[in-house]
Amino acid sequence: MGGHGAAPAATVSSKPAQPTNVLRPDQNGEIQLVAKVAKQEVAPGVVKEVWTYNGSVPGPEIRVKQGETVRVRFKNELPVPTTIHWHGLPVPNAMDGVPGVTQNAVKPGEEFVYEFKATVSGTYMYHSHQDSANQVDRGLYGAIVVEEPQSAYDRDYTLMLDEWMKDDNAGGMDHGAMGGMMHGSGDGTAGQNMEGMHGTQGTQGMQGMHGGSGGAAQEMSMTDMMRQHMKLYDIFTVNGKSGSLIPPLKVKEGERVRLRLINIGTLPHALHLHGHAFTVVARDGQSVAEPRPMKDQLVTVAPGERVDIAFTADNPGTWYLESHDEGTAAAPGMKVAIQYEGASKQTDRPNETAKLPGVDLLNYGKAEKGPFTLDQKYDVEYTMELGTAMGKTGMVFTINGKTFPDTPPIRVKKGDLVKVRLINRSPMDEHPMHLHGHFYQVLSKNGKPLTGAPVIKDTLNVKPGEEYVVAFRADNPGHWMFHCHVLHHAAAGMVTQVRYDGYQSKVKPDPNDKPE
Ligand code: C2O
Ligand code: CU
Repeated sequence: MGGHGAAPAATVSSKPAQPTNVLRPDQNGEIQLVAKVAKQEVAPGVVKEVWTYNGSVPGPEIRVKQGETVRVRFKNELPVPTTIHWHGLPVPNAMDGVPGVTQNAVKPGEEFVYEFKATVSGTYMYHSHQDSANQVDRGLYGAIVVEEPQSAYDRDYTLMLDEWMKDDNAGGMDHGAMGGMMHGSGDGTAGQNMEGMHGTQGTQGMQGMHGGSGGAAQEMSMTDMMRQHMKLYDIFTVNGKSGSLIPPLKVKEGERVRLRLINIGTLPHALHLHGHAFTVVARDGQSVAEPRPMKDQLVTVAPGERVDIAFTADNPGTWYLESHDEGTAAAPGMKVAIQYEGASKQTDRPNETAKLPGVDLLNYGKAEKGPFTLDQKYDVEYTMELGTAMGKTGMVFTINGKTFPDTPPIRVKKGDLVKVRLINRSPMDEHPMHLHGHFYQVLSKNGKPLTGAPVIKDTLNVKPGEEYVVAFRADNPGHWMFHCHVLHHAAAGMVTQVRYDGYQSKVKPDPNDKPE
């Protein structure tokens, strides 16, 4: 779709070249974003009605310099209320974009001005936080890059990964309906249904999982649901496009190239860079000390995560960065060509079904002392058990047996050192847990201290049976969401909050607000 690249007036092309449109603050220091409905060809011949910022999915890539103040004048031209959340950026609480918690949802026709200082460089994103399982799925997202003072790269590309459905009514169950099915009753007492699920592993254990109160949806086993889910998402996209619609990334021999991988979808994506040794230079925007180069290893990016990889263009030709996701026919569509200027011949072949080892991103880089240790004294300790259960009206996803807003919050005082143990008791679901307003250090996995460079993140994918310890300093007063970034899990209950003692939010929630 040629129209996608058409830049709105305030857009300036960045240096180096970008595959998406880039928006920097205008002469008045402002960035204008408008939420509106548009049409976009997401896969060859598949034109969808999408919800956008400034007319495209993703919205413009916002670029600001570290230390710069970001002022975003946001206008809502959608038929429904919405907000913008600055995912990963430690903004003041009132700018965090969570309806009913940090602001009221912006009603159709209304405006809201977001203003914050971009204090930490790196790769972040923005997206709606109102009814997000639905609004983000329709396309309300974009990247925001906070540039370091001096870039070490000649090319800097941002790739946002997502999934779509060719037919929104596939199998008589549209996405909204699925969201509805998964949507919890919010009775807050799902814990009672957990018993039968503890300790079950793999697909077998799931067959017998039924809810207490009947209904067709509840008779569906989790395996069926998983299969449905994988099948329904039959288009995988990079920057809102799939397959031959994805523009190639241009490079020149000898250049240093950075690829900022961002997952805004609901499935993890395992990517393979062909033909080049590469390093992982940042996780969730935070740089990795002395990353070791590797080749032909898969980099997995979970929903909500960002992984920056870097390589030297030292192998002229055309190469792929492609999905090696298993169990889906959509993987071949998530394939980006890396094209050397002047290289005409096709040197590479896709091999998306090849089994390759994955990079262990948590034990990687040079071992150094991080801000926190396992054995220091903490002011607050919280154990977060993540679970799957049957609620009254469908599947719910729980924290300590409860669904939001009945989940117990993490109560802190400003300055507290906080340690959180994350345990995934769901038999099959991965839960990438995202904390707003703070970075945490990941200290251990399954009882073993991590060994590489300190892992500073805001989103950590916790797989079934896994247990992690993370720590952070409570240095940004407010009421902050801590939730699963599989957004339909969040919508079905898997949300809690970090709440600072004495913090007064000015927001009076109204019925338009849907915080998850
Ligand atoms: Cu990316 Cu609470 O969100
Ligand atoms: Cu989850």
